Amino acid sequence: MFDDYLYNHSVNVTVYTLVLARELNFSERQIEEIGIGAMLHDIGKMHVPKSIIDKPGKLTDMEFEVVKEHTTYGYEILKQFKQIPQAVANCAYQHHERLDGSGYPLGLKESNIHEYAKIMAVSDVFDAVTSNRVYRNAFFAS
Ligand SMILES: [Fe+2]
Repeated sequence: MFDDYLYNHSVNVTVYTLVLARELNFSERQIEEIGIGAMLHDIGKMHVPKSIIDKPGKLTDMEFEVVKEHTTYGYEILKQFKQIPQAVANCAYQHHERLDGSGYPLGLKESNIHEYAKIMAVSDVFDAVTSNRVYRNAFFAS
């Protein structure tokens, strides 16, 4: 209900993530967790003002700082539910971390990033570059 793009993006990331998790021979339980994690990875964006989410054109540094907080917001939202595994909450928290430490919110590196979040980062970027956004068209035809 919050945002059509975000909904479609979440479904796409879930499909890509499940394909990768299967290819990597994850167990059924892990595949279920990573699927839920993918569907909910950007849930924290519900706390980012819609004017920033939908802004055409480049974000200011301050707006980008606000967008970055969706990772922490998402983690906090998911942590409230006892039935949601920690690994699922970590997907929201860590999907913008990068192996070289250049990501956010914590600048974690390599083995400190949850394996689900690493896969989600690949799916997330793949969907971002193959989708049309309000501020640009896809880099590649999808
Ligand atoms: Fe995100």
